[in-house]
Amino acid sequence: MNFSVRMSRIKPSAIRDVQKKISQRPGVISFAAGLPDPDLFPLDDLAAATEETIHKHGKVAFQYGLTKGYGPMIDTIIHRMKSKENVEALPENIIMTTGSQQGLALCAMMLLEEGDIVVAENPSYLGGINACRPYGVSFIGVDTDDEGIDTELLDKILRENRKVKLLYVIPNFQNPTGKAWSLKRRIAFMEVIRKYDVLVVEDNPYGEIRFEGSPVPSLKFMDTEGKIVYLGSFSKVLAPGLRLAWICATSEIIRQAELIKEGWDLQCNQFCQVQAVEYIQSFDFEAHIKKIQQRYKSKCNLMLEQMSKEFPENVSFTRPEGGMFIWVTLPEHLDAGTFLDIALEKGVAYVPGEFFYADEGPKNTLRMNFTTVSEEKIVEGIKLLGQALHGVC
Ligand SMILES: Cc1ncc(COP(=O)(O)O)c(C=O)c1O
Repeated sequence: MNFSVRMSRIKPSAIRDVQKKISQRPGVISFAAGLPDPDLFPLDDLAAATEETIHKHGKVAFQYGLTKGYGPMIDTIIHRMKSKENVEALPENIIMTTGSQQGLALCAMMLLEEGDIVVAENPSYLGGINACRPYGVSFIGVDTDDEGIDTELLDKILRENRKVKLLYVIPNFQNPTGKAWSLKRRIAFMEVIRKYDVLVVEDNPYGEIRFEGSPVPSLKFMDTEGKIVYLGSFSKVLAPGLRLAWICATSEIIRQAELIKEGWDLQCNQFCQVQAVEYIQSFDFEAHIKKIQQRYKSKCNLMLEQMSKEFPENVSFTRPEGGMFIWVTLPEHLDAGTFLDIALEKGVAYVPGEFFYADEGPKNTLRMNFTTVSEEKIVEGIKLLGQALHGVC
């Protein structure tokens, strides 16, 4: 078959292979998922909002809508950008997307040419990197520490590589590490990017799931030059199945995104937009988000406690203040990919960290999710993983 050159650049997801391996072993306690806790979906409230959507707004909800998004939904986003991020947005600064994954794909198509360079954190969300792959770009990973991206290294990379067009960053409770950038690092980052002709995609699906510490301003809030393309999503605070997310950027960028979206899918799911607005207007969404924060906090703390108790001393891990993931670093000689088979034998699973690097990454890291497994299974699973680790460390 004569597929396009773009297709040859797309890589199959290594994480999916891991998931497949895990699914072949029923009963395994899996920390490999990247999903929100389904027990927290507000099903009764969503059922009531769905009734209203059909009976009160059915003729709008089942009809085609605007490519940019349903008017009351755009108003809701403008309000949330102000209340959550202190960002003043106008309707021309917002477009709804089918998940922020589509926002990433839109940005990639809009901006990238063959030969361009994309800079991302090391490690980063594979879906963001994969969205750029079809366009024949290369990647440079910038290391991060506990405060965020290494801005000195970033400055050097941008100075030496004039073909960098796009920076992809996740400053809040990053997938996969769970780390959040400090305010000082965000300020330093903005100072660096001001010097170069680049755009930054600030992907923020986890920002509202802060369960420890104080909120830190987004890059978008600090942006005076329209260089930040902000991606927000309802996936982690409401339900990913709705596939509702948005881009907040300059009107020029939003117009381009709208043109692309017209050719891709005309618009986001109209029913889900009406349904989500109905839910947000009729129920206490903020109380729901607080419930998610409390539940994730207690699960995260439990997992950290168990890791401290059960893991060998030469295994270290991040202590996230929000989000859904903990990043574990094994002694250097260990390969988390090979060790996965030993862990699976024991009855426990995770995702090897090397898959979260655009190019080669260290082999001794792994990602653990704490949102989908019950408290009981967290205790049991970490004990098993600890036993397996003591056997090799
Ligand atoms: C960092 C990051 N960006 C984007 C996405 C995609 O989210 P959405 O469901 O909004 O498409 C995910 C999903 O896990 C993610 O972790």
